Amino acid sequence: MPPRKKILSDLSPNMSERLPLLVANHKENDSLEEVISWVDEIAESAQRFDGTIIFCPSYPFLAVVYQKISHDGINIKLGSQDISRFERGNHTGEVAASQIADIVKFVIIGHSERRTLLKEDDDVLKEKVKRAKEAGLEPIFCVQNEQTPIPDNVEIVAYEPVFAIGTGNPDTPENVKVVAQKLRARGQYTILYGGSVSAENVKSFVVDNVQGVLVGATNSLDPQKFIGILEALK
Ligand code: PGA
Repeated sequence: MPPRKKILSDLSPNMSERLPLLVANHKENDSLEEVISWVDEIAESAQRFDGTIIFCPSYPFLAVVYQKISHDGINIKLGSQDISRFERGNHTGEVAASQIADIVKFVIIGHSERRTLLKEDDDVLKEKVKRAKEAGLEPIFCVQNEQTPIPDNVEIVAYEPVFAIGTGNPDTPENVKVVAQKLRARGQYTILYGGSVSAENVKSFVVDNVQGVLVGATNSLDPQKFIGILEALK
């Protein structure tokens, strides 16, 4: 067994995830059956991956996937697609970070779809990051460009230009490099790129300051397309 690469542990004593990080954000797309068969289908390839796969299905499926990956020893970590801005309490429909902290390690915060469709502003996102950290979850904080405000204590930042999300039109590796450099100048972040990542282009993004990718519906829902990305990163 090669030694574990504890790169994130340099930034936080609590983190020891192996790089690269490969995030699958399934958004509002799956059925329970689809989630289970997705995990089954990628399990073998995941087992031979030296980085960290972070699977983010919808809330209702987190517990069942957690039981499955724990029971079967599958090399996948779980992430939530969102979290409540509030502490646990009487907030109908919300899910508190502390309610899922036993089964989830990561949470996506600040995705452009939530900023636009759910009108989440910088103040809301700051509160969400605070709630996540209090519960011991690691935020994967999405920024749309190098100037997007980043709350304190964020360690993982995903650069996700809006034009590249779900369009098949990724940013250029050159520009991703420049943006990552500017983000790195703002803090010791682990930086991911997201937006039309595919098996064909993933390697061109994960260089220098970029230590992983966030893959949305375009190429993570279909397990074979996701396996293609996984294999390309090995
Ligand atoms: P995409 O989405 O991979 O479908 O472009 C990326 C994202 O929304 O994070």
